[in-house]
Amino acid sequence: MFHRMGCGASLDSRDIDQLNVVVFGATGMIGGAVIRSLLRTGPKFKVKAVTRTPTSDAARQLAEDGVIIATADLNDSRSLERALNGTSCVFLSTHYWEHLNKDKEIHQGMNAVDACVACDVQHIIFLGAENSKRVTGKDCGYLEAKAAIEEYIVEKSAPGQGYTLNYTFLRLPFLYENLLSLFKPHLVKPDVYALALPLDDTSIECMSINDVGRCVYTIITRPKQYLNKTIRISADRLTVQQMADILTKQIEDKRFVCPKIRTKDYENFEFKGASDLAAMFEFYQVSEHGGDMKLTKKLYGSVSPFDKWVHDNKEKFLDILKEE
Ligand SMILES: NC(=O)c1ccc[n+]([C@@H]2O[C@H](COP(=O)([O-])OP(=O)(O)OC[C@H]3O[C@@H](n4cnc5c(N)ncnc54)[C@H](OP(=O)(O)O)[C@@H]3O)[C@@H](O)[C@H]2O)c1
Repeated sequence: MFHRMGCGASLDSRDIDQLNVVVFGATGMIGGAVIRSLLRTGPKFKVKAVTRTPTSDAARQLAEDGVIIATADLNDSRSLERALNGTSCVFLSTHYWEHLNKDKEIHQGMNAVDACVACDVQHIIFLGAENSKRVTGKDCGYLEAKAAIEEYIVEKSAPGQGYTLNYTFLRLPFLYENLLSLFKPHLVKPDVYALALPLDDTSIECMSINDVGRCVYTIITRPKQYLNKTIRISADRLTVQQMADILTKQIEDKRFVCPKIRTKDYENFEFKGASDLAAMFEFYQVSEHGGDMKLTKKLYGSVSPFDKWVHDNKEKFLDILKEE
């Protein structure tokens, strides 16, 4: 059973036993980390995971871990309302890379927000983004869609509409795990690997996915001071050269280098979404909004700096380097 938190219940006095949390993207990397952080302290409150495919290995594992599985699709409003029925708090992430369509992502986000309103959800935590086009003038569907969804949430959470919807916008930095997937080091000659990030000498904010999950845990369970705010989290700030130096130091017998790549060249790389990523990196280089490391530590006191994370993930690096 998934019980409803009383309609008049105040978020100031959120009783952890009465929390009903729905996590989108739960079978993926970030939603998965949020779920792990919620389960870490034991079954204190109800956690539901949204998936389109309840028979997938990831969904079955979540069910085994005690998570309630809700079959729903961001394209299908009725399925969303069924999933959100009786929910007090929603962690929402929307997904661009599956379709590379900004309008589709906006539509999916709006469907989820409308379902939150219909189901009287009190708090939505959204993985948002700044509208990078307003800063760089370059199209970046990936960030623009999230910025548009944020605007829709602000509109829908305005007071005086007969319901109370609070939001927290979470702006993520570059994730360390990107170096194990999308931006994994490429072999250039025996035992020498290149980090191909078009960032010149700009340092960027970064953080591990698990620590994102831990920060979200605090926002979900102690929301008062984070309501209706935009929060930029970060655990470290590094140039690509510094990342390469740390990897070289930590991973024996391998050397990491960072070739100079201009965003102008990166946007012509032959893979889908290259121009979005080039625009994202350009935005990273000029954005004036840095992550708030002090606030991040308040959300989770033991966030890992990059060197500790590399130390803890050496085996994973060695595995992906073997595939090169
Ligand atoms: N800052 C960074 O460096 C960074 C890095 C990576 C990602 N991100 C952002 O973080 C968010 C999460 O990314 P991720 O890497 O965790 O995702 P991921 O691992 O690729 O997983 C995608 C998730 O989205 C769900 N999903 C996709 N389409 C859906 C739909 N139509 N309806 C319901 N669920 C749907 C999938 O669920 P099922 O397949 O089970 O239905 C899956 O759980 C995204 O917004 C991404 O852009 C940021």
